[in-house]
Amino acid sequence: MSVSTQTTVTNTSNATSTTAAGQSIKANRLHALPPFLFNEIDNKKRAAIAAGKDVINLGVGDPDRPTPAFVIEAMNEAMREPANHQYPDCWGTARFLNAAAEFMQKRFGVTVDPKKNILATIGGKDGIAHLPLGLLNPGDGAIVCTPAYPVYASATILAGGLVHRIETSPEDHWLPRFDRGSSATALRTAAPMSKLLWLNFPGNPTGATCDEKFYQQALAFASEHALTVASDLAYSEIYLDNNPRSIVSLFNAPGADIKTTRAIEFHSLSKTFNMTGWRIGFAVGHEDVINALRQVKDNYDSGVFNAIQTAGAVALERFNDPALAQMRSEYAKRAKIVVDALTSIGCDATMPRAGIFVWARCPIDSATGQRMNSWRLAEKLIDEAAVVTVPGAGFGQHCTDWFRVSLTRQTDRLEEAMRRLASLKF
Ligand SMILES: Cc1ncc(COP(=O)(O)O)c(C=O)c1O
Repeated sequence: MSVSTQTTVTNTSNATSTTAAGQSIKANRLHALPPFLFNEIDNKKRAAIAAGKDVINLGVGDPDRPTPAFVIEAMNEAMREPANHQYPDCWGTARFLNAAAEFMQKRFGVTVDPKKNILATIGGKDGIAHLPLGLLNPGDGAIVCTPAYPVYASATILAGGLVHRIETSPEDHWLPRFDRGSSATALRTAAPMSKLLWLNFPGNPTGATCDEKFYQQALAFASEHALTVASDLAYSEIYLDNNPRSIVSLFNAPGADIKTTRAIEFHSLSKTFNMTGWRIGFAVGHEDVINALRQVKDNYDSGVFNAIQTAGAVALERFNDPALAQMRSEYAKRAKIVVDALTSIGCDATMPRAGIFVWARCPIDSATGQRMNSWRLAEKLIDEAAVVTVPGAGFGQHCTDWFRVSLTRQTDRLEEAMRRLASLKF
């Protein structure tokens, strides 16, 4: 494990037009972004579709099931209300903020002030992407534990910050260790240069989860190094056995309180309620951090359509609905289909603890006796099986022999995809 720091990387895949003087028309900050690694796979996918192949897309993490009927009904009603046709309550309607606070209380046992500690967001990505602009000065560092959802790093870079990557491993269940081993050393190296620590458990792509002790250690580490913790809980309601915990719930623990614990947590309705297209979520946490994000967003957007906020409130109020338990067991069934099939072709695959992905190690390449490179595997799967997956290198440079399979397809399609994979020679 190591810490690797990104300063500026020339984004060669990002070729663009130039001025007469030969300068790029794009700002340097765009060139500093990591290359967009998925273009190649996307092109291959499009070509396969154009060639009339029956492509099974296991690349995207976009639920195939519809939004629950009770949410749609609430939306229908709210849309007819003329007051909702005006600019939204951009920090969040009272109804939505109260529903989010109640959700935090009932689900995680933490009491927060809906006005001070919660901010409505246009999906989780909005909050995540804008937070670094509110916290980082140019040159300030942000710690990203990889493999990771790419937005933590790209948002840091767009804010002029430096990304310090901490590589996590399957031996540590994809968690950074604060107390021992090489990831603790890497964290201690990066912390003095940083202001922000990104966490994401349940994780995309790994499905890894953490317990409250981990969050306690993270908060202690953050307080020692004057870091703000930003925790992404996009997959909190999709789990196998133990329901994921919230770092914000520790604000009520003895010795801690919400005024002194500098953390923010991002919640999303996208995956929990099959609402990716609706664009709604919320940030909850320390008042000063929420205010920094609020100030950035005040200058960028005008909030979430009030009718969507009403529907979102109804969704959060029914987080205990049997439809969610049914969704969890459906994802578990799908994960088992994929894990069993991948294991049978020599991939290293274990059941995710949470989330909507299976994160697996590539099969052995019979020509070399080594694990296949995930780019080569992804290309082979599209070319020879018309199945789209995501190469691991897109989430972390040390994950070149891992790949991600999304579970957002019905069981018959997953079974068909796995049959096609089993017929290939690796
Ligand atoms: C880990 C993680 N966080 C946040 C998001 C953003 O989701 P949304 O903006 O739809 O809430 C995603 C989406 O895939 C994700 O995987």
